[in-house]
Amino acid sequence: MEKQIQPVTRLSGAVTVPGDKSISHRAVMFGALADGVTRITGFLPGADCLSTVDCFRKLGVQIEQHSATELSVHGAGLTGLQEPVDVLDVGNSGTTARLMLGILAGQPFHCTVTGDASIRKRPMGRVATPLRQMGAHIDGRDGGRLAPLSVRGGNLQGIVYESPVASAQVKSGVLLAGLFAEGETGVREPEMSRDHTERMLQAFGVNVGQRDGTITVQGGSRLTATDIHVPGDISSAAFLLVAASIVPGSDVTIRGVGLNPTRTGILDVLLEMGAQIEVLNERVEGGEPVGDLRVQGSPLRGTTVRGEIIPRLIDEVPVLAVAATQAEGVTEIRDAAELKVKESNRIATTANELRKFGADVEELEDGLRIRGGVKLKGGAVIETHHDHRIAMSMAVAALVADGPTTIRDWESVDVSFPGFAELLQNL
Ligand code: S3P
Repeated sequence: MEKQIQPVTRLSGAVTVPGDKSISHRAVMFGALADGVTRITGFLPGADCLSTVDCFRKLGVQIEQHSATELSVHGAGLTGLQEPVDVLDVGNSGTTARLMLGILAGQPFHCTVTGDASIRKRPMGRVATPLRQMGAHIDGRDGGRLAPLSVRGGNLQGIVYESPVASAQVKSGVLLAGLFAEGETGVREPEMSRDHTERMLQAFGVNVGQRDGTITVQGGSRLTATDIHVPGDISSAAFLLVAASIVPGSDVTIRGVGLNPTRTGILDVLLEMGAQIEVLNERVEGGEPVGDLRVQGSPLRGTTVRGEIIPRLIDEVPVLAVAATQAEGVTEIRDAAELKVKESNRIATTANELRKFGADVEELEDGLRIRGGVKLKGGAVIETHHDHRIAMSMAVAALVADGPTTIRDWESVDVSFPGFAELLQNL
């Protein structure tokens, strides 16, 4: 489906954004492994999280969907999953694939995991390698590095895994396998990635240790069902934060946004660029910090983004690049080579699609260099590369172009932000 986006003169109003994608996935998975019934509210009904629901139903877990955002997961207990009768299809979702592989590594049965064309290109060796070290049998294309992957799990031994990448998906996959392993399992990473798994396992009653940067769990730890309220996704709020910052005269409030410090890099960088963002009503809900964000249009200046902040804003780089096109001076984003293995190669796709607006964007080996202050041109025809965050980032750029923009394959937005177009319209 194609979408036409018209430039706007101002955005204003108060909105909520859909539930956090990372937290929604984990709530379903941990609920599936728990003893008792987990009730989830604020669930993200995006295609990715629905893939997780579908896979765990195929693994024998009863999941009731009361409304788009309310689910009850009837936990099967730590050893209650069943061998699926068919392939487990994760769709576009890397989080489903990598976290579920960790769980499947601990199951004494066989299954096959696959996904869409993007998933079948994304590196799975990064999680399969440590899971094999623990004793799981995992095979697949390209020497066992690409989906479809076949898994026969069970009889795992705890390891201490030194991950070469800062990846919450790798960390979580290994820790989840650790629940099924003998002894203790630990993970270390070069920089700290998002910690929703650690927080939520604790909410489910699991003892998660931390010693000198190594996160640990004990094999055989049981999960006790709990109620999870999912906060709004800061990665979705990011599109509105940038949109309201670059459209002069805007005033937008986004209520109930998750503000976990491992996710708020986008706020730090936008503030440094001169954005006017206020954090209001800070509170803690279900072990996660939450607040309301008020953002007003303001002139931005270029900045350099590199080093340990990168994992704290990795999913926000495409929209940050849009902000940079409207900032005075040069913005450089480095140490972000991980972007090449996201839903699309986001270094290439961000640069190529932004250039269609006339933006001055240079592709670097590990990031982007953007010369800002360029008036964006209307008339661009954008290819999303089936990447939801590219679609929405380019829609934000389209708001400040001097004519309408066409975005192809708009439906990819439903992966993480169903209703994005309507919400923008309301603002
Ligand atoms: C996620 C971790 C990140 C992020 C992804 C969601 C998660 O991926 O990009 O959108 O929920 O654990 P990596 O673990 O590959 O960095």
